Amino acid sequence: MPIMRLFAVLIICSLAFSQPLMAKEIVIKFSHVTTEKTPKGKAAKYLQELVTQRLKGKVRVDVYPNSQLYNDKEVLKALLLGDIQLAAPSLSKFGKYTKKWGLFDLPFLFKDADAVACFTNGAKGQALLGAASDKGLKGLGYWLNGMKQLSANKPLITPDNAKGEKFRIMSSDVLEAQFKAVGANPQKMSFSEVYNALSTGVIDGQENTWSNIRTKKFFEVQSDFTESNHGVLEYVLVTSTEFWNSLPKDIQTELSAIIKEVTLKETQWALEAARADKEFIIASGRTNIHSLTDAQAAQWVAAMKPVWKQFEDNVGADNIKAVLQCSQVNVVSNERE
Ligand code: LMR
Repeated sequence: MPIMRLFAVLIICSLAFSQPLMAKEIVIKFSHVTTEKTPKGKAAKYLQELVTQRLKGKVRVDVYPNSQLYNDKEVLKALLLGDIQLAAPSLSKFGKYTKKWGLFDLPFLFKDADAVACFTNGAKGQALLGAASDKGLKGLGYWLNGMKQLSANKPLITPDNAKGEKFRIMSSDVLEAQFKAVGANPQKMSFSEVYNALSTGVIDGQENTWSNIRTKKFFEVQSDFTESNHGVLEYVLVTSTEFWNSLPKDIQTELSAIIKEVTLKETQWALEAARADKEFIIASGRTNIHSLTDAQAAQWVAAMKPVWKQFEDNVGADNIKAVLQCSQVNVVSNERE
């Protein structure tokens, strides 16, 4: 065999044999429901960026925002089937998998974002991250969105104003009880359907954060918002236990470090969005924004707080107690108020 042909054969053979030895790139599909401009949307992109920087050739993250791939109803099933590998749904959407995360929906339990950070970073919060592990869901970290506000096409100043109004809620029994407690009519609905349902009058009102209200344009189809801060919208970055366990140890370690870094940024973005998006909505002049006096706020608390007792066994009295302790502490300044 002429020498050149022999070389060519040798090269082809060595390529053919080396191919199976090269590890295949791991693809992580990350599906979520908000726009890329939200804290979650930015964090998902940042996660993708850091993985590209640090695990190039080994791991790749593909991000699908805005319910492009799956909506609320489908995303967790897709995760468990292995069709996607990452999601960050609100903790309100896991009722089928664990009742414990209903804690985050209890009205007026978390005083503010500081209280949320204090609880989620503490021992009880960290233990709670594993609440759905027996269902094959592994919590990798908590991501903040912010405090929720109420809206309708009428002012909601006292709980009486909400009577008979149809409010969209996430798929949470606690949120259902919260609205029933004020005589309203809660309707479970996917996030991707809310704008249309509001604009066509299928529902009268909703609750969400300033970030979601701005980026999904709810403020354009609701005449009145109440700055109620009555609950928190908190996410869990979640994967399937099966997928996580299939990853090599060094990849798990690097991914965990990246997630820690992204989580810190995500919190910052959420705090900024809560301020900036509220300002944007006020400046738009498209809707009325009402603040509550202490006496009015106390009426909402009195009407909704009985929900805590109703769900205490599900969410754990010890967890409620831990959140209440956190509600006294200012984590940012580390001072008691
Ligand atoms: C909602 O359904 O209102 C939110 O959970 C959407 C989101 O992911 O912020």
